[in-house]
Amino acid sequence: MKSIQVGLLGIGTVGSGVFNVLQRNREEITRRAGRDIEVTMVADLDTARAQGIVGPGVKVVNDARAVIANPDIDIVIELIGGYGIAKALVMEAIAAGKHVVTANKALLAVHGTEIFEAAHRKGVMVAFEAAVAGGIPIIKALREGLTANRIQWIAGIINGTTNFILSEMRDKGLDFAVALKDAQRLGYAEADPTFDIEGVDAAHKATIMSAIAFGIPVQFDKAYIEGITKLGAQDIRYAEQLGYRIKLLGITKKTAKGVELRVHPSLVPAKRLIANVEGAMNAVMVQGDAVGTTLYYGKGAGSEPTASAVIADLVDITRLHTADAAQRVPHLAFQPDSMSDAPILPMDEVVTSYYLRMRVADEAGVLAKVTGILASSGISIDAVLQREADDVGGAETHQTDLIILTHDTREGTMNSALAQMQALPTVVAPITRIRKEELA
Ligand code: HSE
Repeated sequence: MKSIQVGLLGIGTVGSGVFNVLQRNREEITRRAGRDIEVTMVADLDTARAQGIVGPGVKVVNDARAVIANPDIDIVIELIGGYGIAKALVMEAIAAGKHVVTANKALLAVHGTEIFEAAHRKGVMVAFEAAVAGGIPIIKALREGLTANRIQWIAGIINGTTNFILSEMRDKGLDFAVALKDAQRLGYAEADPTFDIEGVDAAHKATIMSAIAFGIPVQFDKAYIEGITKLGAQDIRYAEQLGYRIKLLGITKKTAKGVELRVHPSLVPAKRLIANVEGAMNAVMVQGDAVGTTLYYGKGAGSEPTASAVIADLVDITRLHTADAAQRVPHLAFQPDSMSDAPILPMDEVVTSYYLRMRVADEAGVLAKVTGILASSGISIDAVLQREADDVGGAETHQTDLIILTHDTREGTMNSALAQMQALPTVVAPITRIRKEELA
């Protein structure tokens, strides 16, 4: 049977991984797919470098549109990234009747609805296993393996850069800025790390998972996003003393009022497996009503781990492309005419528990005033810790750190209690607030 012909748009780290793994595992992949899958055309601005990677047998061009226009190409792999030219090329590939594989989480989180609608109308597949958690087959798990379940929540470490930085901060007692520099020196963080450290990359991935888990449109613009840049080494230390680790989690949860979609640092009980995911690794917990809690762990980035996900999509498309479009797995797991309009909840409506750290004057009645505000707001305290932090100056400054863990409360309620506590003259510095997830 004629091989499936693939055109690669962009041959950087992931693209070369796709090419190499397809070559190396060709025989096994063909036995699984039922047909040979071949990269026959590559578009890259650096044609000489690209030709060096793929060898003389593959046509290399510097114009991506030449790949899309080639009638022999069955599947286009978009590995350019970003929303600009990548979006135009994906839409053009769909219009040309090509199936598309992409690792572009930003593109799908922002423009997924338009892209999936266009693909549905044209009867082609847009596959994106590599867009979330790299090599971990979490899209397949959510869309197919867990299809019997009402998904209740998902919580994931879905950004390796920030997990590496947080691991370094905890292991070595480093401040954020020092750990970031280390991560950049070692190649775990980019020269401009904004998307990673501000939580944007994780929010792209959480947005895609929320859509698949709950059958809602992708709504990145409604995600609450908070990165790790304001975390201090002392918070990691205090969390540890209370039995928690701090992780940047992407969370999406179905509640009676709507869907929570949020990315922020979270205290996680140290005894949970996910709390022990270290370095640049990723992990995703999924809670389903039938299956209970499941956990998926692996590399979230890198050449061959990401290629593993891209090639899985190539094999799926190879197996399914001749099937009736109605019989294929829907892009967002639910049939397009059965999507839900459950709203994404504003952050004020999210219910969770909290870690609060406040630097206070070490004098009589301070704790009573703080706990009085929490009590009058209906916020129940779980634990209190008082510590003389190294930089407080102890007895000389008469200041101390007060750390409070609360039980669940509405974010809006916590915000107004925080404003009242911050206004106390005995609270001498901005209060640090970190959300806490028991993940039970
Ligand atoms: N920058 C991402 C990370 C890579 O650190 O996980 C894949 O999205």
